Amino acid sequence: MKLVIGSDHAGFPLKEELKTYLTAQGHEVEDIGTYDSASCDYPVQAKKLCDRIVAGEGKLGILCCGTGIGMSMAANKIKGIRAACASDCFSVKFTRLHNDANVLCLGARVVGVGLACELVDLFVNTEFEGGRHQRRVDLIHELEN
Ligand code: RB5
Repeated sequence: MKLVIGSDHAGFPLKEELKTYLTAQGHEVEDIGTYDSASCDYPVQAKKLCDRIVAGEGKLGILCCGTGIGMSMAANKIKGIRAACASDCFSVKFTRLHNDANVLCLGARVVGVGLACELVDLFVNTEFEGGRHQRRVDLIHELEN
């Protein structure tokens, strides 16, 4: 799958681990930065990644910051983005099944690398159920207008 990954400085080490992991799983991973641990602003990184997803340049996105929360707040301001901040398997599975989340936000200061790998596996390998959930996703996007 074509994926896009990004982070701020706090999420940078986790982003690097996940990029290596996902590439080894056979995914094509575009890294929009940041590319080192120098301090930077997560809304800027979130917009960069989300613009790629909305443009169809990647099917799903993964954003890492300290908590995952700031990234998700910023990402959800962008039309067409359904970002989920999650740190447990149940939430990640159901945000794909029911919300058709297209961006997963992870907290590098919340989850370890092992759990983060499990979470991204679930995120990329779970398909949206559609049906009644499509109507609800459509209603989310009506809120954008
Ligand atoms: C950076 O220190 C931190 O505030 C940021 O990575 C993120 O956790 C914000 O939500």
